[in-house]
Amino acid sequence: MTLLIIGGTGTLGRQIVKKAVEEGFKVRCLVRNRKKGNFLQELGAQLIYGDLSIPETLPLCFKGVTSVIDTSTTRPDDIKNLNEIDCDGKLALIRVAEIVKVKRFIFFSILNAEKYPDIPLMEMKVKIEETIKNSSISYTIFRLAGFYQALINQYAIPVLDQQPIWTTAESFPLAYIDSQDAATICLKSLLIKNSVNKTFFLGGPKLWVSADIIQVCEKLSGQKAKLKFIPIAFLKFVRQFTNLFEWTYKISERLSFVDLLEEKNNFSQNKLSLYQIFDLNEKDFLSLENYLQEYFERILKTLNDLNFEQTSKQRDLIV
Ligand SMILES: NC(=O)c1ccc[n+]([C@@H]2O[C@H](COP(=O)([O-])OP(=O)(O)OC[C@H]3O[C@@H](n4cnc5c(N)ncnc54)[C@H](OP(=O)(O)O)[C@@H]3O)[C@@H](O)[C@H]2O)c1
Repeated sequence: MTLLIIGGTGTLGRQIVKKAVEEGFKVRCLVRNRKKGNFLQELGAQLIYGDLSIPETLPLCFKGVTSVIDTSTTRPDDIKNLNEIDCDGKLALIRVAEIVKVKRFIFFSILNAEKYPDIPLMEMKVKIEETIKNSSISYTIFRLAGFYQALINQYAIPVLDQQPIWTTAESFPLAYIDSQDAATICLKSLLIKNSVNKTFFLGGPKLWVSADIIQVCEKLSGQKAKLKFIPIAFLKFVRQFTNLFEWTYKISERLSFVDLLEEKNNFSQNKLSLYQIFDLNEKDFLSLENYLQEYFERILKTLNDLNFEQTSKQRDLIV
């Protein structure tokens, strides 16, 4: 079975490529920058040039492909191309997948996207979900809330560096997941008939609010976080103005997510269907506590070793 993976250089994509190669799949990665994709080749994947914002590059990538796993999304520094990548590029991808009759198309969307039509990325995710469902392709759609990996930049590093963490006083619980667990479930879906033409919530075993994540980081690092609180009402107020100006597009895009902070989701119900179909239980997932513990142990050991090396060098200079 040959898999075409789009977004292989990303957080989730690289884990899927690694596991797929280990599990014996023939893996082809569509990359727009060969240099950036070199590590995927070293893992055992084949690289092929393609760019979602240049649809004519897509058909060649499909030669001999059985299934497609699309983990791509617009990078934050490329936001002006959001429509070309997350909408037009994906529509073109689905068209080619339909023409060559791939056996499965796996797509990653965002949890509760349909509730936020005013947020462009959410609107695009819903449009792509609908296009896949209305196509002739067999599909599996996973709807995510977020990855543990993203919490390192958001909380762990600022706690260690004693940088301020901007947070809202109001808390919204999210079911973050380790990207390796997400990759395992994604590949498992290719072997489970019952996952065909279905949409699944893909989240970890527990809901987390930012205050609890910060507390774990403080405990593991031995440092006190510098918190700066912003009321949601203030963010909403600012959004009214930033929407008016093109140059503040990026800010209003981010502020659109303010609405998300107020959302409560149907966690237990969502979890049940994922656990049943994929024969999972909570022990099959890496917990956020263990993920952060591994991270802090590794980083604190590196910092200790560096300190030791520097002190030894200074001692040698004095002697
Ligand atoms: N991260 C989250 O917290 C989160 C939450 C909810 C849903 N999701 C969804 O989960 C999926 C995986 O997210 P992620 O965080 O792993 O993404 P990511 O780390 O931001 O990676 C994005 C990937 O898309 C590729 N890409 C961007 N523009 C492209 C283009 N024009 N042509 C071809 N490839 C392009 C990037 O390639 P380059 O390396 O060349 O830039 C990269 O491999 C996405 O569908 C995302 O929407 C993520």
